[in-house]
Amino acid sequence: MKPIIYITRKLPDEAVKSLEDTYEVRMWQEEEQPVPREVLLEEAKSASALWTMLSDQIDSELIETAENLKIISNLAVGYNNIDLDAARKHKIAVTNTPEVLTQTTADLAFALLLATARRLVQAEKTVRSGEWKSWTPMGMTGQDVYGATLGIIGMGRIGEAVCRRAQGFDMNVIYHNRTRRSLEDVNYAELDDLLAQSDFVMIFTPLTEETRGMIGKRELGLMKNTACLINASRGGIVDEEALYEALKTNQIWAAGLDVFEQEPLPLDNKLLELENLTVLPHIGSAGIRTRLEMMKLNAEAISACLSGKPVKNRVC
Ligand code: DGY
Repeated sequence: MKPIIYITRKLPDEAVKSLEDTYEVRMWQEEEQPVPREVLLEEAKSASALWTMLSDQIDSELIETAENLKIISNLAVGYNNIDLDAARKHKIAVTNTPEVLTQTTADLAFALLLATARRLVQAEKTVRSGEWKSWTPMGMTGQDVYGATLGIIGMGRIGEAVCRRAQGFDMNVIYHNRTRRSLEDVNYAELDDLLAQSDFVMIFTPLTEETRGMIGKRELGLMKNTACLINASRGGIVDEEALYEALKTNQIWAAGLDVFEQEPLPLDNKLLELENLTVLPHIGSAGIRTRLEMMKLNAEAISACLSGKPVKNRVC
């Protein structure tokens, strides 16, 4: 019997074909909808490998019933959806897809900064709705990006790639990170100082117990009234209730979010009432070439693990 690989979302044929001769590849056939929990629990029982998405909760309940499981390969650089302690306890390898998505995610994050600062989404709506009556001296004005100070929280690979883009836009970049880095033309700042000095604050930390709720009422209160907050990392790092209040009361000027505490963002979420918020549906790494490269890393990790070879991109 061939070892079973269970893939939790419909993926393109070219992403899985390298596995099909050697393994029994099973796949949830919906692209839009995540696999229901009960189906995943059942499939996990016989699978040797799970190829998962960031929308799947791979918790201890699942891991404990997955008796044959050797590897969980997550189609994301983030892996906060996987219980690593449970995986370690059961000697299951967990892999992610770093590096190949760095540039595309940085592009999207910077695009979100520009869209938020210059009100691109609102401006487009005025054209389509017929509200655009004439050119006006202060109409649709936003925050200038060139010459502004960008504060990056979490100076890892994506933070650095964003930093390079920002320098190309003549921004002054400061950063806050768990460990200090030696970077050219970029100064370290304590978190409170970064929040107080920045015109734009961008978050690139992973979601962990340490970073959950890291940007709350107090932190938003330190930011300038003209500042924009951009989060393309993980929902949960920003306290959404506090952000709603800060945007509604103009404590900060605007925000751009690609990620939310609950995804998809429910249509009745009050954040959607705000004009000074730009929202995207978690598309940080959504470049065609990037996504195929991410899938290639997953397929390679699964194949290496199931054939007893060293596994790259292990997070545990
Ligand atoms: C990741 O890989 O963690 C990104 O959030 C996906 O867009």
